[in-house]
Amino acid sequence: MKMKNNIAWFLAALLCFPLWSVAQQQPSGSKMEWFKNAKLGIFIHWGIYAVDGISESWSFHNGTITYDDYMKQLQGFGAQAYQPQQWAELIKQSGARYAVITAKHHDGVALWDTRMNELSTVRSTPAARDLLTPFIEALRQHEIKAGIYFSLIDWSHPDYPGFLRDSSRYTADDDSLKWAAYLRFMRGQLQELSQAYHPELWWFDGDWEHSAEEWEAAGIRAALLSDNPGAIINGRLAGYGDYSTPEQHLPIASPDLPVWEMCMTMNDSWGYQPNDTNYKTASEIIHIFADVIGKGGNLLLDIGPRADGSIPEEQKQLLHEMGRWTNANHEAIFNTRAGMPAGHFYGPTTLSADSLHLYLFLSGQQKGPVMIKGLKNHIVDASILGSGQSVEPREVSKISWSKVPGLIFLQLPDAALDPVMTVVKLTLGSPLSLYRGQGHFYED
Ligand code: GLC
Repeated sequence: MKMKNNIAWFLAALLCFPLWSVAQQQPSGSKMEWFKNAKLGIFIHWGIYAVDGISESWSFHNGTITYDDYMKQLQGFGAQAYQPQQWAELIKQSGARYAVITAKHHDGVALWDTRMNELSTVRSTPAARDLLTPFIEALRQHEIKAGIYFSLIDWSHPDYPGFLRDSSRYTADDDSLKWAAYLRFMRGQLQELSQAYHPELWWFDGDWEHSAEEWEAAGIRAALLSDNPGAIINGRLAGYGDYSTPEQHLPIASPDLPVWEMCMTMNDSWGYQPNDTNYKTASEIIHIFADVIGKGGNLLLDIGPRADGSIPEEQKQLLHEMGRWTNANHEAIFNTRAGMPAGHFYGPTTLSADSLHLYLFLSGQQKGPVMIKGLKNHIVDASILGSGQSVEPREVSKISWSKVPGLIFLQLPDAALDPVMTVVKLTLGSPLSLYRGQGHFYED
């Protein structure tokens, strides 16, 4: 069986290129569907870097700590308080529909029982166990899709070219045998993960160190899809992924992309760093989230558990507050599409899949009227999500014989407002239709 699988992976690698060119041009719509509807994912950076509370892998790569001192953290990684069920419950309750966990970061330490080397939490830390399996199981029990973060780079592997910025690196061309040995190792690990967990999502990282040809990215893609045809691959596989991943920065203009996901830390660190207290507030995260979904994207919001597996209070609290808001406004969030382009309303909007419900996101305790411009549709009903309180739309500046729509004003009742972000639901008489002209006196 094992042999058969290896042959399948090898054949997939050989055959991959033509397959990919098809996949690249037509990323299967239905395969991406759950992901586009999911909107919120939770990213988990958990690794030995949490022992000293320093930056994941980069701290030795950038020389702020020696590699040997960094690796001493292996001895402090106990996972004594690790409760994968509670992690999954917390994620579920935040409203997130998928999670992505660092199965292996650039430091090369695997959270699962890899047979490819000794560098895992099972064989090299006092945790002495596979930490990935129980988490993936807990996610599945809670019907949360499982994503695996896997670093292509492995700065600990003897066959990988160097890890310190000042070290002399060999290139894949200089020593093709060594590079081939590294690729065999990496592919072996991917095969283990692919066949043990069947992840719905692969979240690669570190592709920038080599070209697509060097990584044999097309072969990786083909092999992963031959195991799990429905798996989605993020856009960090040297051009062979399914969607883009802007990091930390909110796109200003709506990205012209069918599928994208912004990944973001809660403070300024991916992993647990107790000195980093620069947490975003729940209100700030919710405002960012609304902006992302209003532009049709997903938010992958990161947490960094401690080395013992406990999740810091601030992070739990933020997930709870996300949950309160996503629960009250779920209809405006999940299964929606990007809303109106900028200019029609001062803030983000989303649209139901049938285009008959438009959701307006209003910051905090909005006073004064809300204005909507260029909406051609008849508004059948307007109400505040959560409370269900209805709102009376008032149309002004409408010239009876002109096709240019009037301006809609809504006066919101104070009592029904959400403390962080209120959502107004407009039910339209027909699919959303917008006037985008200059407002001329006479228009055909
Ligand atoms: C960057 C960093 C990495 C982090 C990742 C999350 O690529 O290399 O440390 O895990 O972003 O998106």
